[in-house]
Amino acid sequence: MESAIPAHLRCPRSRAARASDDYNPPYPAWVARFDADTTQVVMAYLGVQCEGGLSKAMAAIEPLLGQLSLSHGPRHYDLAHYVDAQGYDTVIAIAYWDALAPYQQWTQQSAVTSWWQSPTRLTEGVGYFREVFFPHAERFETLFSTPDKFEGAGLLATRLSDEIREHGYWGGMRDRIPASQTDAMGADTAVATRPEPGRRVIVPGVGNAALIRSGQDWGETQGEERQLYLSDIEPVLGAGMDFLEQKGDAVGCFYNRYMQHIDRTGKPIEKSFGLSLWRTLEHMERWSESHPTHLAIFGTFMRVVQQMNFQLKLRLYHEVSVVRAEEQHLEYVNCHPDTGVLRAHGAP
Ligand code: HEM
Repeated sequence: MESAIPAHLRCPRSRAARASDDYNPPYPAWVARFDADTTQVVMAYLGVQCEGGLSKAMAAIEPLLGQLSLSHGPRHYDLAHYVDAQGYDTVIAIAYWDALAPYQQWTQQSAVTSWWQSPTRLTEGVGYFREVFFPHAERFETLFSTPDKFEGAGLLATRLSDEIREHGYWGGMRDRIPASQTDAMGADTAVATRPEPGRRVIVPGVGNAALIRSGQDWGETQGEERQLYLSDIEPVLGAGMDFLEQKGDAVGCFYNRYMQHIDRTGKPIEKSFGLSLWRTLEHMERWSESHPTHLAIFGTFMRVVQQMNFQLKLRLYHEVSVVRAEEQHLEYVNCHPDTGVLRAHGAP
């Protein structure tokens, strides 16, 4: 058993952890370990949205996928799809870099910049967006329910931890974030100003906004475990995700997308995730520890873990970042007014 906070980021606490030193979690969990010289990662959510079906959205994202294979491209990317509350097919490539410099070299290439700036982007009947986050290692945490497979930013890691102590209780997420040793990471008073109306909008970031990608992989579940996931967990998860997408503003959630992984041809893969951006980490904590949907899936998960004698085939993971305003790039081209942060910040 070890601390989720890596040795090189531990420091004397000025803020108490929620769990005591002799706390023992009720089931195991692991975190991704990064080299000490990985001080910052880049998560780029490059999306397209359109009416007219998945195949149109897949065609629209092809140029973006082509750009990802240019030099200095990401170490890894995933493709995912959902239909948003307004009925638009949305496909996102989620790309990860393990440092800022290669991302900047990649994104500043003319093949990338000229494509985004081209007036043609406004005439194709497609919306494009890029929501890019640059969290520092001390404001970022991961969690995996099984030790056999990484997802998302974890794929940038060098190794898996031993079983970690800080999980299985409300507040574990905060305790795993190294900065929480000394920083409350509370609401930043400099809330973003309303963006200028237009069909190309760059929205200023909100200081200390919290981003979560919380994923589920049920591809290898069988029998009773599969049945429990599909009939007891997934429908409740779906209801929680709908709540955040449609009424999230009431609980400090700027946007939420409940997405399913797809392959390059658009074929669904049995993996999904909720992706949401919140005003603060505390808003996210409040929802997860109080909303009936998350409480229900949390309870079912605890039951299934014990029923399956801690040998789960269902893989859960999440990655959470608390990002400063200047560590966010939020850009929308030809998107509808409820896309991403546009909904919360007042859309054109
Ligand atoms: C099948 C789906 C899900 C299940 C079974 C599930 C279950 C859990 C469990 C067991 C924990 C405690 C983890 C630990 O510390 O060991 C947890 C924490 C958490 N979950 Fe979920 N969850 C699911 C999906 C989601 C989604 C989509 C979100 C998106 C907002 C979310 C938000 C959170 C947050 C923020 C925490 C951390 C709470 C804290 O440590 O204070 N979960 N969840």
